[in-house]
Amino acid sequence: NKVVLAYSGGLDTSVIVPWLRENYGCEVVAFVADVGQGAEELEGVEAKAKASGASECHIVDLKDEFAANYIYPSLKTGAVYEQSYLLGTAMARPVIAKAQVELARKVNADALAHGCTGKGNDQIRFESCYAALAPDLTVIAPWREWDLSSRESLLDYLAERNIPCSASLKKIYSRDANAWHISHEGGELEDPWCEPSDEVWTLTCAPEQAPDRPEYVKVGIEQGAVVRVNGEALSPLQCLAQLNALGAKHGIGRVDIVENRLVGMKSRGCYETPGGTIMMHALRGIDELVLDKMTRSWKTQLSEQFAQLLYDGRWFTPNQASVLAAAESLSHVATGEVVIKLYKGNVTVTQKCSPYSLYSEAFATFGADNVYDQKHAAGFIRLYSLSSRIRALKQTDNV
Ligand code: ARG
Ligand code: SIN
Repeated sequence: NKVVLAYSGGLDTSVIVPWLRENYGCEVVAFVADVGQGAEELEGVEAKAKASGASECHIVDLKDEFAANYIYPSLKTGAVYEQSYLLGTAMARPVIAKAQVELARKVNADALAHGCTGKGNDQIRFESCYAALAPDLTVIAPWREWDLSSRESLLDYLAERNIPCSASLKKIYSRDANAWHISHEGGELEDPWCEPSDEVWTLTCAPEQAPDRPEYVKVGIEQGAVVRVNGEALSPLQCLAQLNALGAKHGIGRVDIVENRLVGMKSRGCYETPGGTIMMHALRGIDELVLDKMTRSWKTQLSEQFAQLLYDGRWFTPNQASVLAAAESLSHVATGEVVIKLYKGNVTVTQKCSPYSLYSEAFATFGADNVYDQKHAAGFIRLYSLSSRIRALKQTDNV
């Protein structure tokens, strides 16, 4: 039998390759998803996989698919988990799982494996996707089976088998990077009273160190998708790359939170989502112009629903499809231009316009107007507040 392992080249998955061969007597095919984690992580990954004992290593470029079919749809919904996490790790799981299943079909594997621990969200996300896409395949989660627990024991495991490994004994943080974000957990971050040291952050400049002059960027939006940066038409992945670079330079998109995991425990996570944070503000700028009061409130509910289902690994479900369809229907009017000011970690929308804008200076002006009759407000307020009036009268005059 044959198993396809979601392989990263890190210490954990390097141990999983020989462990699967020994404990399941199976052939191990390494599957490396390129979701934009960067060249350093991918460098030499195939040689590493082979050195660990993988029979084949497939590196699949998922960057554009990730940006266009996972990041952009999520962005349209405005999903943010627990008010601050932009869900970067959660968004990448379904695109990785789907490609992993496709590879398993191609090489005729009968099992899928991943390197997630038994304490986290990622195991749930991967396996829920596997369940939806390949219910017939066996799932192996070594972290839930073996009794290796420390970094040291993993390194010993490789040393005993003469498997070369470049990992060092102390790697402090658990990180997960892709085109949208990087997450950091572990080390001193496990104490919520401890401020993250400078070594935690890898993507963005510290706001204190960011340029003293603000920089403006113009973002073009069509139907809820960012399609232009400073007037240049770009693919989703290219827009993200441009805005990531600008945001990183100005210290944009750092988040430090204690969040609720699906398995019940709280965990402390630091996130860097520079381009995503800019995109989110740009889309909100357009929503301010085009959505009426009830619709905005409805969108807030959709955002919350989508954040929950995305965080909880329910991407390939009718629940996801229907919430997304609702958000897409609202996006038909989310078109326009937004100018954003970047300054020392702050994102400020300074200019916005849309062909579907409901904003009317003629109606809103504090100056004289000839479209709105202020007398009409009296009757509206009289009926709008009628229940309050009746309640008060009952108490005093007993009407
Ligand atoms: N807590 C975040 C989430 O659940 C980040 C998880 C990071 N995952 C990782 N394998 N390092 O989405
Ligand atoms: C892990 O436990 O494998 C990473 C963290 C998470 O999944 O929440």
